[in-house]
Amino acid sequence: MNTSANSQVRSVLVCGDAVQVLGSPLMAAVADLTVTSPPYDNLRTYNGYRFKAREMLAAIFRATKTGGVCVWVVGEKINGGRSLTAFEHAFIGREVGWTVHDVMIYQKKNTPFMRSNAYTNCYELMIIFSKGKPKTFNPIMEPTKRNGMETAVYNKGPDAVNKKRAVELKKQKTRTNIWQYAVGLGGTTRDKAAFRHPAVFPEKLAQDHILSWSNEGDIVLDPMCGSGTTCKMAKMNGRTFIGIDISEEYLDIARERLTMI
Ligand SMILES: C[S@@+](CC[C@H](N)C(=O)[O-])C[C@H]1O[C@@H](n2cnc3c(N)ncnc32)[C@H](O)[C@@H]1O
Repeated sequence: MNTSANSQVRSVLVCGDAVQVLGSPLMAAVADLTVTSPPYDNLRTYNGYRFKAREMLAAIFRATKTGGVCVWVVGEKINGGRSLTAFEHAFIGREVGWTVHDVMIYQKKNTPFMRSNAYTNCYELMIIFSKGKPKTFNPIMEPTKRNGMETAVYNKGPDAVNKKRAVELKKQKTRTNIWQYAVGLGGTTRDKAAFRHPAVFPEKLAQDHILSWSNEGDIVLDPMCGSGTTCKMAKMNGRTFIGIDISEEYLDIARERLTMI
């Protein structure tokens, strides 16, 4: 599906196994961007369904336009050691056709103490897969220190004295690839309903990726949408969303959140 056809696609929530839903010919090359998070290690078996990363990553690849991006946020179960799930998924993603465009860090500002024999884990990885070269990048900018003003030494005159003056540098710079978010009620979201889902990611995280890798009118997919965070932020930012989840119970939360906007 090309961009001019975007306007014919309506936002939808679909209940089902995303691998099957995305297998429909209607879903080939529809998405400009995917922002999603697979079931965490300890939740990988749900209602008898076992999550298969390879099939899911291949299905999303097929559903993505050339130049589209898939943001894959991976949390690991940390019990004794690390499962390295994020790295495993990055390699699997490459095998099914994705380019690993970047590996970003989602740092949680308020993490509870977790391990007695290692430093407290405060991050998850966000793998930025792209289908070829990303077609959209709208970098989020942040102000440089001192609002772009810097005191600089500009010359040594014949008197051999360094002179200083305030010069204007760039007022803004591109953000780094480590993004920090507060988590919990008020941080992740203000929607109390969302917390009926066990693994919600921050609205701001979804929004920052949506603004970075897509434009207004684009189609944003979340094939494992859970409580609907990506869908909500896509709607709020003028994108069309396609949300899929295997659980009707979780989709009910997503519907509730979407009607609150
Ligand atoms: C980590 S949660 C996503 C949470 C979501 N990002 C949010 O903010 O609420 C993963 C979700 O994947 C769903 N899921 C697991 N396997 C699936 C599949 N094959 N197809 C669709 N959804 C699936 C689970 O029901 C769960 O809601």
